[in-house]
Amino acid sequence: MRRADEERILEITKDVWEGRDYIPRVFDRWVSDAGAEFQAAEVEGVVVGVQRLRPYAPGLVWYEGLRVASTHQRRGIARTMLNAAIEESRQHGFREMRLATTYQPAVNLFESAGFRRLVEMRWWRGLRVEGGEPARIPDPSEAARLWSMVSASPGIETYGGVCPDMNGARDLDAGEIERLARNGLVRLGPGGRALALLREPWGQNIAVSLLAGSGGAMREVLMALRFEADADGLKHVTVNLPPGHPAEEDLKATGYDFADAERSAYIYALAL
Ligand SMILES: CC(C)(COP(=O)(O)OP(=O)(O)OC[C@H]1O[C@@H](n2cnc3c(N)ncnc32)[C@H](O)[C@@H]1OP(=O)(O)O)[C@@H](O)C(=O)NCCC(=O)NCCS
Repeated sequence: MRRADEERILEITKDVWEGRDYIPRVFDRWVSDAGAEFQAAEVEGVVVGVQRLRPYAPGLVWYEGLRVASTHQRRGIARTMLNAAIEESRQHGFREMRLATTYQPAVNLFESAGFRRLVEMRWWRGLRVEGGEPARIPDPSEAARLWSMVSASPGIETYGGVCPDMNGARDLDAGEIERLARNGLVRLGPGGRALALLREPWGQNIAVSLLAGSGGAMREVLMALRFEADADGLKHVTVNLPPGHPAEEDLKATGYDFADAERSAYIYALAL
């Protein structure tokens, strides 16, 4: 992609998701980011498709931003682009390619290319609420102790071994919790018996990618996040949770609703 392609990208993305595509918002950042590959597919000199490959953890490459112009869909362009991305990632020695999606056509494409689903997630939302204390933010050095609680947490197997951050899903282990704690993205319940792992939000909210723990401690963390949203002047908290995870009951009990009842999000992975 080149800076001069911006206008064409705006044209392509205005047909995507009723004009709510995020690529126009990130275009400048993506086109100037030398740490990732923002690629275009051309037909007779005209850009008809885009995709991005971003190394984000040792051995892992994140695949995102796949779009094909509505005038050129169902001709195998996305499949050709994806295959080129896979080949390139192999040549660069990556161990695994991962991605997040919510769209059925994309799910069909990725599954037919051999990607396996690691985790399904539903979106919950809790509005900000006044009057309480935000949760404690642990020190990175507490991470190892938290891992024993997290790895034994009811429902932890529904996360498929990853922390399902929609901006790049890393393996879920003590090192990941420590990394998140270093970035101020861990919130603890009383006695360290529950925690929430946060990710960079996409809007005016707090975004939770993983919950661990149970009972009263879990409910306290969930309420504390709503208090924190209020203290930070944010509108709400969003939580991604695999369907059937026991924390669904805690979300209901602490005033969270399904934010998007119709659609799941998925994390997929392909071993390279
Ligand atoms: C998803 C998208 C990139 C597919 O682009 P495309 O060039 O039309 O896809 P291809 O022609 O290469 O099709 C590859 C496979 O994708 C799946 N697919 C594509 N469009 C589909 C549709 N409308 N319905 C169901 N499956 C579809 C099929 O499995 C298809 O294989 P097949 O043609 O052998 O059945 C395109 O529809 C798009 O830009 N959509 C909007 C943005 C989006 O959802 N991006 C993905 C975000 S992760």
